[in-house]
Amino acid sequence: MSVTVRVVVLGPPGAGKGTQAMFLKERFGACHISTGDMLRKAVNDQSPLGIKAMQYMEKGKLVSDNLILELMGEHLSQENCKYGFVLDGFPRTRPQALGLEKLLRNLGLQLDRVVFLNIPRDAIIRRLAGRRTCEKCGTLYHLVFDPSSKEGVCDRCHGVLYQRSDDTEDTIAARYDVYKTQTAPFMIDYYRKGGLLQEIDGMGNPDEVKGRVFQALGLDVA
Ligand code: AP5
Repeated sequence: MSVTVRVVVLGPPGAGKGTQAMFLKERFGACHISTGDMLRKAVNDQSPLGIKAMQYMEKGKLVSDNLILELMGEHLSQENCKYGFVLDGFPRTRPQALGLEKLLRNLGLQLDRVVFLNIPRDAIIRRLAGRRTCEKCGTLYHLVFDPSSKEGVCDRCHGVLYQRSDDTEDTIAARYDVYKTQTAPFMIDYYRKGGLLQEIDGMGNPDEVKGRVFQALGLDVA
């Protein structure tokens, strides 16, 4: 029997949103929409959106709700998202959460669950300082917790691994503050009251966290 997942993955920077979203995508073929990845691509391409977004991203600030909702509208309406989606890093504000509801209503879809990955601040710094990402396929690694077999080279596609420019000490601190003041206070309460929030302990290795996420969603881990 095929299973459809329609989830939001929420949590502070470095909580493992991208890592867990990839597990869900691989297992269920759901479309994985990461607003951070889309924005980084736009910055790389030097598109008008990328040029606008860059000034916020490099300071760890949020990009405007209108730009984000426009991007999401384009991506969520793609055919393959009808059969399941994992939203990674979106929504982050009240207007984005309400905008998502409107988008889904127009598409005749609804959200099943919001997975809230909770980890303490000191773990965030350790995870982000060691993160490396494949520039070709986007696979995530960590220098200590999940290293590639050959340093600097992706195991999957042999692409080059790079360090994100916003993973500096100052920008990590700014992103965490933004999360604590602009994202967490509204989002956690809103989805808890709506009965959609599943809080998950994000500590432990990625497979242990995956086990908790799948269990919370009522999905088979094997
Ligand atoms: P975005 O790219 O979404 O960054 P973020 O929210 O700060 O989250 P990260 O991608 O840093 O972390 P993650 O939780 O995905 O962790 P990961 O799985 O990589 O956004 C970047 C910027 O874009 C924002 O600052 C903002 O400017 C803008 N933006 C994006 N969305 C926006 C929106 N909706 N509205 C407005 N602006 C927006 O894991 C991190 C590391 O830890 C990796 O190395 C991984 O291998 C490792 N790891 C993962 N899980 C574990 C584990 N269980 N144990 C040990 N290590 C682990």
